[in-house]
Amino acid sequence: MSENSERWINWDELKGLSDDQIEEKAKKILSIMTLEEKLYQMSGDWTLAEGGPKMQKRYNAEPIPAGEDKKLGIPGVLFSDGPRGVVIGSSTCFPVSMARGASWDLELEEKIGDVIGIEAKVHGANYFGGVCINLLRHPAWGRAQETYGEDTYHLGAFGVALLKGVQKHIMACAKHYACNSIENTRFEVDVSIDERTLREVYLPHFKQCVDAGVASIMNAYNKVNGKYCGHNPHLLRDILKKDWNFKGFVITDFAWGIRNGALALNAGVDIEMPFEWRMAPNKMIGYMNEGRFTEELIDEGVLRILRQKLKFAHKEDPKFYSMDKIACKEHTELALEAARKSIVLLKNKNSILPLNRNEIKQIAIFGALANTPNVGDHGSSRVYPPYVITPLEGIKNIVGNAINIIFNEGEDLEVAKELANNSDVSIIIAGYTHLDEGEGSGTRDRTGDRKSLRLYENDEKLILAVASVNENCIVVLEGGGPIIVEPWKNKVSAILMSWYPGMEGGTALGEILFGDINPSAKLPAVFPKSDDQLPYFDRTTTQIEYGYYHGYKLMDKEGYEPAFPFGFGLSYTTFSYDDLRIDKHTINSDGEIQVSIDVSNTGSMTGEEVVQMYVGYKKPSVDRPVKDLKGFTKVLLTPGEMKTLNLKLRAEDLAYYDVDKKEWVIEKIEYIIYVGPSSRKEDLLTTTFNVS
Ligand code: BGC
Repeated sequence: MSENSERWINWDELKGLSDDQIEEKAKKILSIMTLEEKLYQMSGDWTLAEGGPKMQKRYNAEPIPAGEDKKLGIPGVLFSDGPRGVVIGSSTCFPVSMARGASWDLELEEKIGDVIGIEAKVHGANYFGGVCINLLRHPAWGRAQETYGEDTYHLGAFGVALLKGVQKHIMACAKHYACNSIENTRFEVDVSIDERTLREVYLPHFKQCVDAGVASIMNAYNKVNGKYCGHNPHLLRDILKKDWNFKGFVITDFAWGIRNGALALNAGVDIEMPFEWRMAPNKMIGYMNEGRFTEELIDEGVLRILRQKLKFAHKEDPKFYSMDKIACKEHTELALEAARKSIVLLKNKNSILPLNRNEIKQIAIFGALANTPNVGDHGSSRVYPPYVITPLEGIKNIVGNAINIIFNEGEDLEVAKELANNSDVSIIIAGYTHLDEGEGSGTRDRTGDRKSLRLYENDEKLILAVASVNENCIVVLEGGGPIIVEPWKNKVSAILMSWYPGMEGGTALGEILFGDINPSAKLPAVFPKSDDQLPYFDRTTTQIEYGYYHGYKLMDKEGYEPAFPFGFGLSYTTFSYDDLRIDKHTINSDGEIQVSIDVSNTGSMTGEEVVQMYVGYKKPSVDRPVKDLKGFTKVLLTPGEMKTLNLKLRAEDLAYYDVDKKEWVIEKIEYIIYVGPSSRKEDLLTTTFNVS
């Protein structure tokens, strides 16, 4: 078909269309397409034989295409993975999502999305598959690092922030829908879950993304209540497409996201990725001839694809960015800002931190990780940055020649003890790498779920040995999620959780250790004292039940005391919270309350504080959590400064899902509002109001 053909769609003439015009145009295009052309839109453009070797060589080295129709002039979906940056080529490597979740900084996350959108575009992609918002049910999940934390509300807020940034430029995809939080058995595991838990705990963050206009959703590999997510009409048709009125398209997780094209189409899948395989046009025509679906269902899917392609084809940003945007100064500075805001100070006995440059002559740094670029797993989210600043480099850069830095891997405990004994301060960098946790199913380099939540025995011994001779012992942890620190927590003076902090992580660590930056991050997931404070998890299981409770809500419910609570993190300054007040004490079920609090910096250093708002329920007719995060904000305060912060709470945020009525119900009861610096009861001020 030539460009002059009547069927040729001149994409360049489609600029600046309104939503209604897009809809009309998409329907018109659909009406001129043959069945084969429509089906061609619904799967990856590579066959297994073409795409397999490319991906083996270097995964996602180039955009992965789906539905590029040169005859009609329809562009393909051009996929790049994430979320710690753009996987194609070499790109800016941000801290992993779990770290960014610890920043509680939504503006920052949107800026990260913006940069990701630009860099993806430079690399030729028009679709970013890295808005990962699965709930961290258990910290052993190998892909914990790819998501933002354990809390539904917090996850939704972060997913929306990232996609808003990305979608200034290209389409975004939120994944993995749904209940995907065991890695080793991800292709088979069947998650049993009751409808209320599904709707209230595991899905609201996806709905948030849908409401914010996400272009696409990726179905998960696992089963939910006996059906693969890609064959699950309850998840895809009833909830996503009908109840939430999702206008975008559903793609499969790659290769094993569906097993049968007819089941997938009926369930609500629109594109099979990455290959033309189970939804290949010839197979689909065969199924259609068997009467397994009608062309209407194909039209429904293709309309969704065309609608998003049209909507994003002419975003209001320059069409081309040049290669010099990749990991440019502005972008790596954002990666540095994200690292600064992600590192959580968990313990700081006698204010040992920040270190005083003038009082220290020698620092001993231990642990192989100090000298290892460690930015996360080697699965589909692997980003290849042009450089990585390690902790050792970051510390050396900040002290220059002023302090003597000794580095030792810590293999010989006696040597380590001697070095620690002769140094003013000892810093141990310990934790995990891509060999301990990540995407995959337990094979080398594709490690899967974590085997243990504790550090390696050698690292624990090293910490205890060093701490026994040097009281100025600081432990810096690296990893994708919570770590059990009980065996050594009380023996050391300071603990920092630095996650996988991205290409500028070492710089941020150095700045925080020496007080050039005041830490402000807070935990997006509980650090438990022991495994038995967590829900059941078995990385080999193919059948598991997900209950209503996990994380801080489980701790609250059972009265467990965690090692470090959800929302917890220290600063080099102190803050006070006063005068919690609300503008109304009674609202209707369509009402909203303004919650105000005065937060002051009572210490001597400028700092940022994350302010959290939780809700509790008095005498509910159904079981409810002790408290539920419903809002948060961040404030920068100079010493002595006070600011009044306002948070909004809508009555509709208080609803529970009534399974019998199949609707959300806002109970007319008394509600408790808690506001403070963490989820710990002692940290929170309270007030109450009624819905009538
Ligand atoms: C992962 C997805 C990823 C996809 C494409 C799959 O193995 O589960 O998260 O987006 O590969 O890279």
